[in-house]
Amino acid sequence: MAIKWIDDTDFFCKNQKVLYRVDLNVPMDDNLNIRDDSKIIAILPSIDVLLKKQAKIILISHFGRPNGIIQSKYSLKPIAVRLRSLLDIDIIFVEDCIGHGVVELIKHFKANTILMLENTRFHAGEEKNSNTFSKMMANKIDIYVNDAFGVIHREHASTVGVTNFISKSVGGLLIKKEINALNTIKYTPKRPFILILGGSKVKDKLCLLTKLLFKADKIIIGGSMSFTFLKALGENIGSIEVEQKNLTIVRNILSKSKNKAKIILPIDHIAILKCNKNSTTRIVNKNTFKKNEIGLDIGPKTIALYKHEIGKTGTVFWNGPMGVFELTKFAKGTFAIAKIIAEFNGVTIIGGGESTSVISILKLNNKISHISTGGGASISFLVGNKLTTLNKLGFYD
Ligand code: 3PG
Repeated sequence: MAIKWIDDTDFFCKNQKVLYRVDLNVPMDDNLNIRDDSKIIAILPSIDVLLKKQAKIILISHFGRPNGIIQSKYSLKPIAVRLRSLLDIDIIFVEDCIGHGVVELIKHFKANTILMLENTRFHAGEEKNSNTFSKMMANKIDIYVNDAFGVIHREHASTVGVTNFISKSVGGLLIKKEINALNTIKYTPKRPFILILGGSKVKDKLCLLTKLLFKADKIIIGGSMSFTFLKALGENIGSIEVEQKNLTIVRNILSKSKNKAKIILPIDHIAILKCNKNSTTRIVNKNTFKKNEIGLDIGPKTIALYKHEIGKTGTVFWNGPMGVFELTKFAKGTFAIAKIIAEFNGVTIIGGGESTSVISILKLNNKISHISTGGGASISFLVGNKLTTLNKLGFYD
């Protein structure tokens, strides 16, 4: 049995209660304004199919990393409002995702409305993949649909555990689209194949890097992660602090990288004083950081170097910004990389919330071969990790 998708002709769900797991972990500013709604738009095709099949949709998602603690800044409420504005039907927002009140609503809500449940990560049981929590989420549910591509690499209760308590699990159209697009570069990428990695989830990405050494021909590194590499190579990185654990992983990667993918690192940075975020910026060349400085973007020589490298490749996969692009004075490097990739004629794939929102801000969406809604997820899939979430849908059968 291979994976069953919701648009399969023999998938019927009329009047059935469908727990629809999505990834609505959208970038949001401090005033709770959504900075990029690509992930919300990406689930509309599946919602459309489920509504046409007359399913009763119960939508669940995580948002941010509240670590099992209820915090209003991580509520899915603003996202429910945005989703409502994109659909013709009502959304009932429920302030929890388990419990008696939720079950009563699931039992009685009318067709042609969507029940949207609150952040699964408000419960500690979510990330622990707890059986008790999974069972509570599955209460009164007939079918589970997983369309949360952004978390296919997470073994959580709402992506894995819950499937043990629901008799039928199928895949949504977003996961189908992502897998089809990533498969084109997974097995036979047009070479040379270059990976550009940046962003803040350093540990997550480092864990995947060893495997990427066997896939890619070159790996360009920017953002926080680059400082761990520079430090491991004995370079002066000013006041930036890197975690000892990450340093050990990087040393291991560097020792394994010989005769594999070439790792390319920044040769200059845009820096400011650590203790004064409003200080004027300075271009810092290799090894010339002052003790009290931190680098928050790549510099002009690095942009030129990366442009040269990207121009010579067949496939580009980009995940993670080159600096703190949310602040204008540190956005140049990331925006330059986005434009270079958009002008490139080969296959281009972008993954991760921050990189995709840069592409949206610069309105470059139609110049990219595929924009993935998953960062760590797309890399995990690409390197060939066997993912329990997909296994639960029958992907590896
Ligand atoms: C993402 O935005 O990459 C996904 O929603 C995964 O989020 P996580 O890294 O907090 O699990």
